[in-house]
Amino acid sequence: MSRIAYVNGRYLPMRDAAVNIEDRGYQFGDGVYEVCEVREGRLVDVRRHLMRLKRSLEALHIRAPMSSNALGVVLRETVVRNRVGYGIVYFQVTRGVARRDHAFPAPEVPPSLVVTARALNRTRNEALAAKGIAVISVPDNRWGRVDIKTIGLLPNVLARQGAIERGARDAWFVDGDRAVTEAASANAWIVTYAGTLVTRQADHAILRGITRTVLFDVIQAEGLRIDERCFTLDEAYAAREAFVTSASQIVLPVVQIDGRAIGDGKPGPVALALRREFHRYAERD
Ligand code: PDD
Repeated sequence: MSRIAYVNGRYLPMRDAAVNIEDRGYQFGDGVYEVCEVREGRLVDVRRHLMRLKRSLEALHIRAPMSSNALGVVLRETVVRNRVGYGIVYFQVTRGVARRDHAFPAPEVPPSLVVTARALNRTRNEALAAKGIAVISVPDNRWGRVDIKTIGLLPNVLARQGAIERGARDAWFVDGDRAVTEAASANAWIVTYAGTLVTRQADHAILRGITRTVLFDVIQAEGLRIDERCFTLDEAYAAREAFVTSASQIVLPVVQIDGRAIGDGKPGPVALALRREFHRYAERD
């Protein structure tokens, strides 16, 4: 079955799905995006993802291509047309098509909307979580507003590639104070030996992950302690557990940082329990 993409009002086979070469997303990375998990064919936490998209659009003064409700319909339709049971739906909005000029187009042009959906391999993802991943640390060289989910991801791309070339799976960004900000496409967490969960406060230096937000509810309900603050790389090396959270991986244990084993070098019980419990707290559309 060929995959179907939604592009500016039409559902098209992937091979025919294209945007104009003067789309500002293509030329300037002038756009925003979201990734939402799909389970049993239903969207997970889509309400929150749509809210965050709206915030990102507003922050960059990009017009919404349609209402959140209408966009929800398009997302569901794209999932159905691609027959995704377990996987992700990706949606991005750019400032639209205009002759290349750094300033916003004047008069304004319609924003571009692209939606794709694809299945993920559940068995492979579960096996990855059961094994845990290795990460490396890299200097955080991103701009000062990574709380906006823009499609300009070059530092993230280079960080991930650097990790792979060094035999790891992902990279953790570290700021000028040696504090961990987040991973290349996920939020970073540790569990201390006292059993407290620690993740950086959601300021302009991290993306406020939807998975992260829902996990706060899980943690509270499970009676665990959480400390929302900066933690250093040295604290992470000395942690009992570490993990990352994102819509595509939910809770993924980290068992090694910069070649050092975390805890006993195996996925920790807290991370695995949170991964197991997560979907009891997430919204299902
Ligand atoms: N990434 N931080 C960054 C830099 C991210 O790119 C992401 C998500 C997150 C976690 O956010 P959420 O829990 O809402 O997925 C944190 C998506 C999955 C991606 O780029 O593929």
